[in-house]
Amino acid sequence: MSAQPTEAHHVARLAAAIGTLIAFAMAIPVLLPAVPGAGLALWEARRRHPELPLRHFYRSRGAGLLAIAGAASSAAFWAAAWAHDRAPLPMLACAAGAAGATYTTVRILEGKIMKPILELVPQGQQDTLAGFLAGTPAAASGGTADLSCLDPVAVALEIKSRVLGQDAAVDQSVQLVFRRARLRRPAKPVCTLLYVGATGAGKTELAKALADTLFGGRLIRIDCAELSQAQSTQRLIGSPPGYVGSDQGGWLCREIGKVRTGVLLLDEIEKAHPDVLTTIMALLDEARLTEQSTGTTYSATGFVVILTSNAAAGDIAQIVAAAPEGPERAGRVKDALRGAGFKPEVLARVDSVLPFGELSRGAVAEIVGLFLQKFAQDVGLEIRSVDAALLIDLITKREALSGYGVREVVRLVESAVVDGLLEARDSGYRAVAIGIDGDTVHVAGVA
Ligand SMILES: Nc1ncnc2c1ncn2[C@@H]1O[C@H](COP(=O)(O)OP(=O)(O)O)[C@@H](O)[C@H]1O
Ligand SMILES: [Mg+2]
Repeated sequence: MSAQPTEAHHVARLAAAIGTLIAFAMAIPVLLPAVPGAGLALWEARRRHPELPLRHFYRSRGAGLLAIAGAASSAAFWAAAWAHDRAPLPMLACAAGAAGATYTTVRILEGKIMKPILELVPQGQQDTLAGFLAGTPAAASGGTADLSCLDPVAVALEIKSRVLGQDAAVDQSVQLVFRRARLRRPAKPVCTLLYVGATGAGKTELAKALADTLFGGRLIRIDCAELSQAQSTQRLIGSPPGYVGSDQGGWLCREIGKVRTGVLLLDEIEKAHPDVLTTIMALLDEARLTEQSTGTTYSATGFVVILTSNAAAGDIAQIVAAAPEGPERAGRVKDALRGAGFKPEVLARVDSVLPFGELSRGAVAEIVGLFLQKFAQDVGLEIRSVDAALLIDLITKREALSGYGVREVVRLVESAVVDGLLEARDSGYRAVAIGIDGDTVHVAGVA
């Protein structure tokens, strides 16, 4: 059934119309005196903003202006009327209302109440916004590495209990990071370190340890072996608008924007494609990365950048073993790197090149111990004794596997003991003794 207007509807409408007319007639004494004020404000606003269409002044912001200006002139009219009737109280009230409304009208006309939105943006963000509006984005401000509440000596000690047998590299890294963090060079990373030497000597481990101890574990790790193609730069910094993948953006930019301060680890840098290296060198120079699809610039001033390389590992191990630490040895390490084809541009941009020597037998034994304890702890056991023959066997195997480093040893230890540890635990033991018989490692429960 369609809704036809009924008799009742017509009556209601008529009543509403009459009511409106009466209200209007009653409001005339208020509305009429408002006309000169509203008219004046409209005229002034038009004079100030000839570019705005007239309808602007009847809507939202403009309507508010007209209402307040109207109220000002209406209140002034009634103040005069009450003055004429010699009624001081209502006269004063109306005069005060008139003054307040006039003041507000003038403030609105001068743009002091409704400020342009751009003026409402806090001072510190104006540059970013202005850059964005102009299409030339300003650099997002980078984080700063604040290490002032850490003690360098304690930090070095903690790291040395995790990275064994590389004390010189640990000490120099910690010293340099702390010194540079105090310097706060603008537009540079905190510092840039290059770790070189044999694989499995603890380069990656030291970078991780620094991230854990100095930055609460904030680490961005890039495996440069995965960036050997020219297109790899896109994965780091995105591709320009219109290119394939430009909608995905650059992973490294996102990470830097998110992490803000920490360790940026570029592992096995010599394996990166030359285009990737160019991007990385710009990062080392200015601590800036520009996202290609959006043009947003990210700042890496809060990062300790660590590059690692296995280039010339054999030569470097010999140099480290033969020469005492000093400028001469540093020079020879750099020569060896250049000789192995390491890019001199990269060498020129790092603050310090730290060579990692071959781990001594003692250090390897300690690392084995570290892992044994860790595996045992994981299953809730204590290690009471370890057969010397086991350590000698593991170290000999590692030396035979030269080039594989300590990683292989760790794997050997793990495969040899994990099952035995689990069995001992399941049999109800709290502690174990680890021995070796020929080639078989055995884990015996100790009461
Ligand atoms: N000096 C070291 N102290 C303690 N653990 C080490 C040391 N060197 C290597 N390791 C162990 O061996 C593994 C491989 O070492 P890594 O740091 O990745 O070697 P690389 O020098 O090739 O980067 C690490 O996970 C770490 O547990
Ligand atoms: Mg490594």
